[in-house]
Amino acid sequence: MISFNRKDYVDINEYCLAQEKYRVEFGWHIFLESQAKAIAEAYKGLKFIEVYAGTGYVAKLITEQMGNSNGSYLAYDNNGVINDWGYVKKHYDVINEDVLELDITQADVIVMCWPAYAEMDALTVVKNMRIGQVLLYQGEGYGGCTGCDEFHEYLESNFHEANPELLNTLNDLHVTWDGLHDRWFIYKKDKE
Ligand SMILES: C[S@@+](CC[C@H](N)C(=O)[O-])C[C@H]1O[C@@H](n2cnc3c(N)ncnc32)[C@H](O)[C@@H]1O
Repeated sequence: MISFNRKDYVDINEYCLAQEKYRVEFGWHIFLESQAKAIAEAYKGLKFIEVYAGTGYVAKLITEQMGNSNGSYLAYDNNGVINDWGYVKKHYDVINEDVLELDITQADVIVMCWPAYAEMDALTVVKNMRIGQVLLYQGEGYGGCTGCDEFHEYLESNFHEANPELLNTLNDLHVTWDGLHDRWFIYKKDKE
């Protein structure tokens, strides 16, 4: 049986505080410039829409890497209408709108990181996507903390996994917080 002393509790407490600090300033998952570069290169010149964009940190890093390509990047979040997420910073011009009301079909790539688990919202977004659109999803898999079960089932039945090269790059670079199992998934929609 593992036993803890007071010093261990101090370390654990510091780790939790660091995670909380990162979350309110940047986001729920750790996102790196090298990952943003890989995404921007793979989908150069395309139209992105990010849903549930939170602080806009992902949007900021990807658009910085997009440079002067003809691509575009719109990011949406309703700023915690349901929950107060406690964000202390916005890194991008995140548009304050309900993503369930958006027409997202004009984009080539939908970015969705850490959609809530308890609601059917992530499912609604992927149902609203059109055939041929790419979904870059960052979160946990089936049975995890992000996206309800029906969301994961819908991805399995209506999408196929895409761009294995980029997927490997993103996941090789990915670091996550202790106890979380988030990773990147890339899907393309095949059927309504
Ligand atoms: C768990 S947070 C994830 C935020 C960010 N993607 C990240 O990884 O840090 C979920 C986000 O979804 C947003 N959200 C929830 N329902 C929404 C809706 N219907 N329309 C727009 N944003 C919504 C919340 O405001 C919150 O910022």
